[in-house]
Amino acid sequence: MIDGALPYLRCPVCGETLARAAFSPFVGGGGVVGQGGERALRCPRGHSFDIARQGYVNLTAGRPVHPGDSADMVADRETFLAEGHYDFIAEALAETVRPDDGLVVDAGTGTGRYLARVLDALPGMPGLGIDVSKPALRRAARAHPRAAAALADLWRPLPLADASASVVLNVFAPRNGPEFRRILRPDGRLLVVTPARDHLAELIDAYGLIKVDPVKADRVAEALGGGFEPDSCRTCRRTLRLSEAETRTLIGMTPSARHEPPHVAGAHEVTAAVDVTAYRPR
Ligand SMILES: C[S@@+](CC[C@H](N)C(=O)[O-])C[C@H]1O[C@@H](n2cnc3c(N)ncnc32)[C@H](O)[C@@H]1O
Repeated sequence: MIDGALPYLRCPVCGETLARAAFSPFVGGGGVVGQGGERALRCPRGHSFDIARQGYVNLTAGRPVHPGDSADMVADRETFLAEGHYDFIAEALAETVRPDDGLVVDAGTGTGRYLARVLDALPGMPGLGIDVSKPALRRAARAHPRAAAALADLWRPLPLADASASVVLNVFAPRNGPEFRRILRPDGRLLVVTPARDHLAELIDAYGLIKVDPVKADRVAEALGGGFEPDSCRTCRRTLRLSEAETRTLIGMTPSARHEPPHVAGAHEVTAAVDVTAYRPR
């Protein structure tokens, strides 16, 4: 549902406010059905952005973006998360946030599952999931009644007003420190989930999966551009008991899925370990 996030959205061309408008092919991205009605957002200068039939708005201003996670990766992610294996991460995020009246932004939202859990913990607050993957955004757009979804590149200026977000979530996704700092309120929090040193260690050893560099909180703060300092950090760890099929699904949602899939045999006990760090703006 876009309306909750609408007051915070800004035109990616000129930075003006956006309002609902009838469909117009003037600027926005493709893959959209123009059936009349309010199927676009438009700024006072006439730049228009299509709302896809599946509910997400394309705020790329027609600029090319890389496709993000593929349909297969997103399907595996949806299946694996729905099985509840990573619910402990969602719970850790939900326990860290505090009610406020700004927007909750999930940068690199994927299927929107973490955003939905956090919105459940923050009654009345609107949410926005940002991603470049269309298969992901189709799911994120219906992840929660208060969640909007937007196609936008995290490496470019974000289509959001200054100081619009009370919370920015960033779970296993690219981090744009200066833009996160710009959109975050002075009293807001950036919550970053990164893999801990032993995350999926058994699968990495057994199948030679791509090892994701564990990044310590101070290194993340530095990489964020110096605009943040760690406020709290906790490591959350679980042993997952996965069937052969579940193991395959988990591997399918990792960066290793972009390569030839390994031959998975049998059930596995796997360590899932993440650092959940809250940063406050400096
Ligand atoms: C590992 S997935 C994590 C998704 C979600 N946060 C989760 O944990 O379920 C990384 C996500 O970041 C998205 N992504 C990658 N590069 C991006 C970019 N430049 N801008 C926006 N999203 C991006 C991918 O499409 C993918 O959905």
